[in-house]
Amino acid sequence: MGRLIAVISGKGGTGKTTISANLGAALALHNRRTLLIDGDSGLRNLDLLFNLENQIKSDFSHVISGAESWKNAVLPVPRYPNLFLLPGAKELQTVPVFESVELLRSLKDEFDWVIIDCPAGIGELFRIAVNQADQLIAIVTPDITAIQNGRRALLEALQHSKAEPLFIINRVDWFSIQSGDALDIQSIAGLLPAILLGIVYEDRGFQRAANLGELLMSTDTAPATQCLRRIARRMLGEKIPFPKAELIEKKEKEPQSWWKQLFRS
Ligand SMILES: Nc1ncnc2c1ncn2[C@@H]1O[C@H](COP(=O)(O)OP(=O)(O)OP(=O)(O)O)[C@@H](O)[C@H]1O
Ligand SMILES: [Mg+2]
Repeated sequence: MGRLIAVISGKGGTGKTTISANLGAALALHNRRTLLIDGDSGLRNLDLLFNLENQIKSDFSHVISGAESWKNAVLPVPRYPNLFLLPGAKELQTVPVFESVELLRSLKDEFDWVIIDCPAGIGELFRIAVNQADQLIAIVTPDITAIQNGRRALLEALQHSKAEPLFIINRVDWFSIQSGDALDIQSIAGLLPAILLGIVYEDRGFQRAANLGELLMSTDTAPATQCLRRIARRMLGEKIPFPKAELIEKKEKEPQSWWKQLFRS
């Protein structure tokens, strides 16, 4: 039986889709059969990252309605023999709970890893995904709005879920942390009801790769790729220590306390 991961965030644009795609590829490179589900109905874009948008014949909505079997809807991702995509629905008014749960359970039997790239916020598919998930991965960026909304999403998820709560800090830029402009890693970790799975550096290569229909994961030398590979190995159960540099603290300025009050409720 495989593991189901719900990738969530409170705020939009924190990097759920980017990280889902690249982590899926990293797991596939470890010879794990990995399925990515694009849970963002109407605003699907995992297919774009893989340059597969013209190959979609059916999607999540067709599978849920019983019009198509998942086997026919799932697309193999080029260059990653163990990676597959179930495209997001073009439009889906409501998400039927029973059918969605059945589908997720049967997909777990077929794949080693099933990663659902959830829509931002806490809508219908979010609830179904977190309820069925074995692990939640919240994606936050080092700014207070993303962290506060990520915290709310995690707290909401944990009310509907027995999954292990984890989080990734995306778009980490050491210069901003050292200068005190961004929150440091320990402060963020102290604010979220979840375990730090890893950090991913800010890297313009993600946008460049996306525009080419490629993944940064294909560029071995990129430091952000190494971050994602470490995260994948942690997911596979390896004890990969956090490099000291990943835990660097602010040097110049004392942490400001005003934002801590935001996290009391
Ligand atoms: N580590 C990073 N460094 C630089 N840019 C990044 C990084 N992670 C994501 N981005 C960029 O941020 C933008 C938003 O990323 P993405 O679409 O993955 O976010 P999302 O959480 O899925 O958004 P939404 O909530 O709209 O689904 C994209 O342009 C992506 O290339
Ligand atoms: Mg997205």
